[in-house]
Amino acid sequence: MDYQLENEDLKWAQETYEKLNDKIKAQCARLGNTIPYISKNGHYSDLDTGDGINWWTNGFWAGLLWQMYYASENETLKKTAQEIEKRLDEALYGFEGLHHDVGFMWLHTAAANYKLTGSADSRRRALHSANILAGRYNTAGKFIRAWNGDDRSGWIIIDTLMNLPLLYWASGEINDPRYSQIAQCHADTAANIIARPDGSCNHIVILSPDTGLRLEIPAGQGYASGSSWSRGQSWAVYGFALSFKYTGNEKYLVTAKNTAHYVISNLAYNNWFAVVDFRSPAQPLKYDSTAAMITACGLLEIAGNVSENEKAFYTGCALKILRACEKKFADWNIDNDGIIGGGTAAWHGKSDDTEVPIIYGDYFFTEALLRILGKSFSIW
Ligand code: GLY
Repeated sequence: MDYQLENEDLKWAQETYEKLNDKIKAQCARLGNTIPYISKNGHYSDLDTGDGINWWTNGFWAGLLWQMYYASENETLKKTAQEIEKRLDEALYGFEGLHHDVGFMWLHTAAANYKLTGSADSRRRALHSANILAGRYNTAGKFIRAWNGDDRSGWIIIDTLMNLPLLYWASGEINDPRYSQIAQCHADTAANIIARPDGSCNHIVILSPDTGLRLEIPAGQGYASGSSWSRGQSWAVYGFALSFKYTGNEKYLVTAKNTAHYVISNLAYNNWFAVVDFRSPAQPLKYDSTAAMITACGLLEIAGNVSENEKAFYTGCALKILRACEKKFADWNIDNDGIIGGGTAAWHGKSDDTEVPIIYGDYFFTEALLRILGKSFSIW
């Protein structure tokens, strides 16, 4: 879509793209098929994660490389992304350590590879991961189970919305509506019981895995039960917009817009920065730039699906968010790993995952920038 940028925004985007391209080329030469998570002292390390090869963020570096390959046709980026895809086979075929985030892991690797190269092996990997995701569906509660562990069989979380495109894609790919039906049932349950009427949302809702009845609402990665974890809010904005993209069902677009308006007002109140939780005490002040970057992508998705006279609002808000974040948090030194600082994993997290560059912040910044320049492809 043509976002019809103002000249000044276009100049900023083009100049930023040049810096991004230099940075990614240098980072790719240094990291190769490393699977990075958090940049510590200017360096990403391999699989320095909470869960080794199964960790939910393990596809984002490959996804970023595919986006930059699409934009720049740099073959080294493509080759490196393909190597990471093969490394993830240990998780895909090991299977037992996997969770709902197979969408983040294989949309960004195998499905991206298949979409751009037609690789049959990659298609098989992506379809296999879709089957794993579909297998987590709970028919009593009409939701996809998020995480493993005996005590978590009834947990539905807002983040799962971003994995649903793997199911929508699989349905289209093999011409079988079951995957999309599961995705829509989950999205409906999320809209009914995770999203709140004012546009805010819970992170986690615990249901009875036997009956689907609501049992409890824990704090999750936010400040407290009933608060408003900003990254969860951003998953809602983008996730519901993506369910609309695949189904054309207006209720998902309405929910995406409702959550977007809530997030936009909170960001505008704070100079277009996201704090980790919109309903936490003012001190200590903690930012989460990743929530802002995901929101920007979600707003650009919404902008492509609203009437002509609404587009400028969503695009304009996305640009304000991106530009504020780039100015405050971007590190363009090509000798350092990590693009966007200020990312925070959880409100009650540790110091080494608070206000740091995180690989998914880098990914969503890249996707948003390439989107507004018309250089991105749809990984979702
Ligand atoms: N999906 C987990 C997170 O956003 O931290």
